[in-house]
Amino acid sequence: MAQPCLLTGDRPTGKLHLGHYVGTLQNRVRLQHDYESFFIVADIHMLTTRNAPAEIAQIDQRAREMVLDALAAGIEPDRVTFYLQSGVPEVHELAGLLQSLVTVSRLQRIPTLKEMARDADIEMPLALLAYPVLQAADILSVRANAVPVGKDNYSYVEVTREITHRFNARYGDVFPIPEVIASETPTLIGTNGQAKMSKSLNNAIYLSDSAAEVRRRVRSMYTDPARIRADIPGTVAGNPVFQYLDAFGTDRATIDALKERYATGRVGDVEVKDYLAGVLNGFLAPMRARRAHFDQPGLIEELLLMGTERVRAETQATVREVRQAMGFTGVRNRLRRRAERRMTGPSPQDQEDHAAPA
Ligand code: TRP
Repeated sequence: MAQPCLLTGDRPTGKLHLGHYVGTLQNRVRLQHDYESFFIVADIHMLTTRNAPAEIAQIDQRAREMVLDALAAGIEPDRVTFYLQSGVPEVHELAGLLQSLVTVSRLQRIPTLKEMARDADIEMPLALLAYPVLQAADILSVRANAVPVGKDNYSYVEVTREITHRFNARYGDVFPIPEVIASETPTLIGTNGQAKMSKSLNNAIYLSDSAAEVRRRVRSMYTDPARIRADIPGTVAGNPVFQYLDAFGTDRATIDALKERYATGRVGDVEVKDYLAGVLNGFLAPMRARRAHFDQPGLIEELLLMGTERVRAETQATVREVRQAMGFTGVRNRLRRRAERRMTGPSPQDQEDHAAPA
């Protein structure tokens, strides 16, 4: 039997950091062996909050960085199809056909969409309200069974599931119902102690950071503010330095000993941070090697082009099947054949079209 299918991806808003890694990337790397995998660079989704020409001008560069980040993290280019959403215009037709299967009020109740509008300091654009519908179209276009995403995206996949149920109930069993694949560590705290690591909060450590950058960022990390001297007992719980050690460290005994010494005022921040910088650089070292390996002129561009062609063909086939299932059977196929006939002369199918009533 064919492998089940998975779709995941991000908007091209910037390079990936450790939060992305624990949030979704490690899932994606693990799952690529069990699923036929697609990885979307969702540039049309980016427009819902950022549509300035300067943003659009950066899409190609950022798409390249995203793919390189994914390859560095361990995604294998012969297992995963990378593609650019704007290269698949048929997804809009699919989204349009799905729009009747969800209500405005259902979408208005999704908190993350409101937050995105608020964070971007804009009034809710129609496209942002419809964000989950376009995502549903992405997911259904390749008939994904599974969608490994971070917490922010759970509600969109939930909308996709509702739309899919309704589609199947109304027009026939065309699509599998996609499942979210949740990550074990949903959010990673920021280097400044804020709840979430995020580029816009300027509290991130990037997968592409050099060893020196990692050391610098770790040195200036937030720890326990009450601890002004090494002999004052410190708080381990909620301390980002120890959360990172828990997430990325492998030597449990050393980490437990550091926690114990920290809590009893027997280790300085600098020693703990130097240990953490070593742990993170050890974790990132194989990624740096893979990044260097894949960072060749033209390679990523070619992967994206090939992948986009493939997904476009698949989406065209899906749209054809959706139109068929919904009962839009006639006109478009006849128009297509008529256009072909203008180029190549009449086909036997055309004769039938003339004979049969619409
Ligand atoms: N919503 C995702 C993000 O937060 C991007 C995305 C668009 C996506 N379409 C998708 C993710 C389909 C998984 C599946 O950037």
